[in-house]
Amino acid sequence: MAKQKNIFMCSSCGNDFPKWSGQCPACKEWNSVSQVSGSYLKPLTGSKNSLRIKVKPQTPKKTLQSAQTSYQTTSISEIDRVLGQGLTPGGVYLLTGQPGIGKSTLLTQLAIKISQTISNQVLYVCSEENSTQVATRINRFTKKDTNNLNLLNTSNVESILDQNALSRYNLVIIDSIQSIQTDLNPTSPGSPSQIKDSANLIIRMAKETQTPVILIGHVTKSGSIAGPKLLEHMVDSVLELSGDRQHNLRLLRSVKNRFGPTDETGIFQMTGKGLEEVKDPSKFMLEGRVENAPGSSLCLIMEGTRPLTVEIQALVVPSNLAIPRRVAKGININRLQLICAVLTKHLKLPLGNKDVFVNVTAGYNLTEPGADLGIALAIISSSKNKPLPNNAIAFGELGLLGEIRSVNFQDKRIKEAKTLGYKITISPENTKHLKQIDLSSRT
Ligand code: TYD
Ligand code: MG
Repeated sequence: MAKQKNIFMCSSCGNDFPKWSGQCPACKEWNSVSQVSGSYLKPLTGSKNSLRIKVKPQTPKKTLQSAQTSYQTTSISEIDRVLGQGLTPGGVYLLTGQPGIGKSTLLTQLAIKISQTISNQVLYVCSEENSTQVATRINRFTKKDTNNLNLLNTSNVESILDQNALSRYNLVIIDSIQSIQTDLNPTSPGSPSQIKDSANLIIRMAKETQTPVILIGHVTKSGSIAGPKLLEHMVDSVLELSGDRQHNLRLLRSVKNRFGPTDETGIFQMTGKGLEEVKDPSKFMLEGRVENAPGSSLCLIMEGTRPLTVEIQALVVPSNLAIPRRVAKGININRLQLICAVLTKHLKLPLGNKDVFVNVTAGYNLTEPGADLGIALAIISSSKNKPLPNNAIAFGELGLLGEIRSVNFQDKRIKEAKTLGYKITISPENTKHLKQIDLSSRT
């Protein structure tokens, strides 16, 4: 009798070995290697779930012709903007974000929109939440007929792929990739090898049946996508929903996109009725702004290819600590320290014995260097207890020598400032150094 081959697999990285060891030789994780049944690693080809569709080679021209006509708009313009032109047949998308940020909410709304507006068949796989919970949410969002929307309560990949399921639907949503499991892999849901194998099966089916699939993906504590890095390579697009849970603003960005640009951002606000598109982001960002207040500055930043006005607030107060505090919300603390140092050196601003607090309103996270000048102006304004002109807006990067450096999309920003009615634009075009800034003109 042929001796059965033993396979030992690491539940952390998914590598397999001929013998057991206490520490995985590949990922160095302890106590993660265990024996798996011999059926694991059987070839995927020829499995009963395979839906072989005859494919023919095509010329690039023909391929393009068929591709251009087949983009499927989602009827949510902020999502279309991020995707490029809409969903692509056979495209596999990964939507990630912090827990509770609104991933399931956004995709439930997308499922409703596509099933109602375009009358397309949508399959929503509920492996994380119970299908009743999802149905309750759908009921809250719409009172109209939802016959084209199908909820599947399973966490088994084979059940999802069963009965030619994918080929019957125009969109499949899987909530989430970390909670599904294939019979081919004995590790628990969420393990890197399980995610890899499950995603592999789903992606293959999506390509064979030309059905767009959106997978929801968790993120780790550090903010990276949970599971193997390979997952990001396997899917066609990686979308990220971000925001501050204490605020309503939600931003949808594409981190990777094989079908369109990666520099577009969809802007939403979380409401009692789910996520709503924000049509006028600058107005939304400035809601409730106190005018003529020292320590407040307006800054024109780029969110993708869209200019956006944000308010930066600073508070400079005497400190009773040996090392004064620098507290930043919405900007990097090192950036704040650097800007404080530049202001002390080049404008002789006495910040050495002051606490400096900076906050970006609406829970927005500013990473763009073009916001430096806005941050500097807010600090100057609070330090001198002098409000900035009401009709002034700023953008520009601050150099260590106190110079104001150019940033990208300058013309677009200046045009936007004019459109929004700002009379004074402090920018690298008209101000080359911090020393040239004159805040006395109040109108
Ligand atoms: P959810 O989509 O479940 O988050 P995720 O799938 O990313 O973990 O969203 C959960 C949060 O969204 C929850 O804290 C409540 C809030 N929310 C609203 O504010 N309005 C709504 O209409 C819905 C459905 C959720
Ligand atoms: Mg969810």
